[in-house]
Amino acid sequence: MGLRFPKRPAVRMLALSFLISSPTFAAGPPLQEPPRLPPMSEVEFGRLLVTQRCANCHAVAPDEDRYAAPLHGLFGRKAGSLDGYTYSRNIKNLGIAWSASTLDNWLAQTTFDTPDIRMRHVGIPMQDQREAILAFLKTLPGNAPSDQE
Ligand code: HEC
Repeated sequence: MGLRFPKRPAVRMLALSFLISSPTFAAGPPLQEPPRLPPMSEVEFGRLLVTQRCANCHAVAPDEDRYAAPLHGLFGRKAGSLDGYTYSRNIKNLGIAWSASTLDNWLAQTTFDTPDIRMRHVGIPMQDQREAILAFLKTLPGNAPSDQE
């Protein structure tokens, strides 16, 4: 039986690096059944990315607090509108509400076509990573499917 890799390239890379770092693989092709990779769904991959790339600054659970606005209750919310958080004038002036497409656009860019957005360091150029992040964000409280368009 052959090795089974997840379809998405980024997940595959992760799986590959896991394999390469495993001693069995480094010692050459195993004679018996190869080790099974832990399966990772798109949502789990998204959770991993958000933990690494977003969660220092943004809460993902209602009982957490971070300095930037939380990522739950996000879909349908107007950009830069949550009380108690400091936003740049420019994010408020975007005049958009967060949806799958505005978030995809936001995450793809580091400047969001607007100078002086405060979150300028984050840019996720890989589309499959943005899709995984969005898939995970959609599972958070207050990000109900009815708000996601
Ligand atoms: C180093 C801190 C930091 C990291 C890491 C970070 N952000 Fe941000 N984020 C901010 C800040 C600061 C703002 C406010 C931007 C402004 O006011 O211009 C913001 C704004 C946002 C907003 C708009 C919030 C609102 O209420 O309108 C979203 C959505 C967002 N970030 C998502 C993400 C996601 C998803 C990630 C991970 C891929 C991420 N951020 C990583 C600091 C961060």
